Amino acid sequence: MSVPAQMRSLRCQPDAKVGVETVAVPEPKDNEVLVKVKTVTLNPTDWKSAKFLGTPGYGVGCDAFGTVVKLGPKLNTQLKVGDNVAFFEMGSYHSAEKGTFSEYATTQSDTSVVVPTDFDPAQASSFGIGGFTAIQCLFTRLGLPAIPKDLSAPPALTKESPKLLVWAASTSVGQFAVQFGRLAGAHVIATASPDNHAAIKELGAQDVFDYKDESTPAKIAEKYPDLQLAVDCFSEKGSTVATANAISKKGGKVVNILPTEKAAKEARPDIEFITTLVYSFLGREFKFGGFGKFSPEQLKSDHAFLASWVAGEGSIVNNLMEKHLIKGNKIKVMSGGLDAIPEGMKFLEEGKVRMEKLAYDV
Ligand SMILES: NC(=O)c1ccc[n+]([C@@H]2O[C@H](COP(=O)([O-])OP(=O)(O)OC[C@H]3O[C@@H](n4cnc5c(N)ncnc54)[C@H](OP(=O)(O)O)[C@@H]3O)[C@@H](O)[C@H]2O)c1
Repeated sequence: MSVPAQMRSLRCQPDAKVGVETVAVPEPKDNEVLVKVKTVTLNPTDWKSAKFLGTPGYGVGCDAFGTVVKLGPKLNTQLKVGDNVAFFEMGSYHSAEKGTFSEYATTQSDTSVVVPTDFDPAQASSFGIGGFTAIQCLFTRLGLPAIPKDLSAPPALTKESPKLLVWAASTSVGQFAVQFGRLAGAHVIATASPDNHAAIKELGAQDVFDYKDESTPAKIAEKYPDLQLAVDCFSEKGSTVATANAISKKGGKVVNILPTEKAAKEARPDIEFITTLVYSFLGREFKFGGFGKFSPEQLKSDHAFLASWVAGEGSIVNNLMEKHLIKGNKIKVMSGGLDAIPEGMKFLEEGKVRMEKLAYDV
């Protein structure tokens, strides 16, 4: 496949701004592939990283779906030119060449999921940050049993099924956490605004409560006295205190995706709070505003874990996509391509995006 020398790319600019530039197409190194990006989806981290950590000239954007057009010299997977993949990258702060809001992007072959041809590109793109964060929270941090590679239907629920609380299930991470939790055989209890309850149940939650109702933690604790595992998919404005107060008197584990609120640790010293950051799944050393520090050993094992879930045809996630056992986030298709993305990032910053992902064709 012929690849041009230059491409259009959304880059960080001085004064925390972003803008489209024409830059060189990056070369895939070592275990990387070069992807012709078709569709990207937006995450809160896009505006936060560009605004607070962005280095002028660095590429913006994390999620992407596209087609492999060139292979690096040392691939450790069977990924081929022509394969469709979904992946995430470290936009805005890690290196000039990373950032998916570009016509081409490089990424590691073993952290990219092969996407079946009948899977919607925008839905596939949404797996990047949202889906992989949910996998990290549930399976590496809370220790839910892995989903078998050949799963063909959600496992039956029994009295012994582990219970999992997904707080803020309408978030991108939450929509995936509900689905992966159910597919791992957990009895999923969730919270969301009432107008999203039906959609969250459709994703696999058994029971949904309103997070705005102050009595929700007590109601959950009373109805599910053995609930010991939770993921707080919002992780601010008191949501971790509420999540923790729903957990059993016997204690348990709560995973946060922003720094753990002090008040939560004070309210429930018997609970283990784990803060996590999906970027560790790429296995590279990084600094993300002092939030989430990972040892070299942890980075190595997180990278290997993600690869064991996504790398190659027949991976756990590829199988779930093939059998349509999992879907991406609810999508809102946006027009205007790369030039319109800064406006979309602003919508997210202003809190105007609810239970949907903004998707742009590049
Ligand atoms: N650590 C990591 O690796 C990681 C990864 C991904 C995201 N994050 C962070 O996690 C947060 C969520 O990201 P996301 O992309 O998943 O979310 P998102 O899709 O932008 O979340 C939108 C949803 O948030 C819910 N929400 C709004 N206010 C809430 C509140 N006070 N309590 C509970 N839910 C509330 C709304 O639910 P309703 O519509 O039901 O009201 C809304 O639909 C962001 O801060 C993001 O930066 C961290």
